[in-house]
Amino acid sequence: MENYQRYSKFVEDWKKARFPARPSEEEMPILDRLMRGIEINEVKDDVKGKKKGTLNYNQGKKLLILGATPEFRDLGFKLKLKVTCADINIDMLEGMKQLMEFPNSEEVLVKCDWLNMPFEDNSFDLVFAEQSINIIEVEHFDDFLREAKRVLKDKGIFVLKAIVLLDENEENILKKAREQKRDIIYIYDKVCNMPKHYINNVRSHKDVSKYFSGLIKQGKISQAEYDKFIHHFGAICNADLKLHALLKEEFEKILKTHFRIREILYGKDFEKHSLHPIYVLEK
Ligand SMILES: C[S@@+](CC[C@H](N)C(=O)[O-])C[C@H]1O[C@@H](n2cnc3c(N)ncnc32)[C@H](O)[C@@H]1O
Repeated sequence: MENYQRYSKFVEDWKKARFPARPSEEEMPILDRLMRGIEINEVKDDVKGKKKGTLNYNQGKKLLILGATPEFRDLGFKLKLKVTCADINIDMLEGMKQLMEFPNSEEVLVKCDWLNMPFEDNSFDLVFAEQSINIIEVEHFDDFLREAKRVLKDKGIFVLKAIVLLDENEENILKKAREQKRDIIYIYDKVCNMPKHYINNVRSHKDVSKYFSGLIKQGKISQAEYDKFIHHFGAICNADLKLHALLKEEFEKILKTHFRIREILYGKDFEKHSLHPIYVLEK
């Protein structure tokens, strides 16, 4: 079964999923600002006589979303952008409508492979991707970036939120989590993105739940914590979704061969978001 086909198995459960599988509340203001094309100093105050939060340099511009991300589709609708979504799995494009606050009859849904998209060169002002690159094999990362660059306009920006690996050991992660009173989702994110869980740069979710039930037996997490983990990520584990990722330095080496990294941003609470950099990329 192809990795993307596994999504059809948990479209319904996507409602229960949350960060790091979906954008966090702390990340949304950053993604909002980037989609408006405004600088950090233009967010807070009334600037240019515009009421707070209404400044938007990208109204009417063309946005391409790599995937079916409901949060991005709502943002694109709210900011009056011309929204196109590219996803290889129709179930996701249609299924994610249930999670959208603003049904958008104008959005264009395109069933296609990100590695070979049916769009002209220099078609989009903005390209947004939420962990999309981590769904495909590492050996295709260059093709993915090359294709995103091809469809992006010269003055456009590519906002790529990706998973990067953490070279940390389990003991330190659990110690820090307990000291900082972090929840099981934090532990899941840090422990499972340790390089040792990525065999040839691939991590299987099925192994994750097995690993976590092992932590209960070792008394390192409680049954209640495990149950909370399964509530939010059980469906993704059962579908055995695969994730592909590299250490940050390795990943950025590949990024720089295709783009200029203008900014690397993180949701507020860096500790929580440290494995999920938001790259602002330019041609
Ligand atoms: C983790 S999401 C990534 C995108 C984003 N987070 C989302 O919510 O759509 C995975 C989505 O990527 C799609 N997908 C996986 N591989 C793909 C490919 N090669 N081309 C286009 N879509 C793909 C799946 O169908 C699924 O909807």
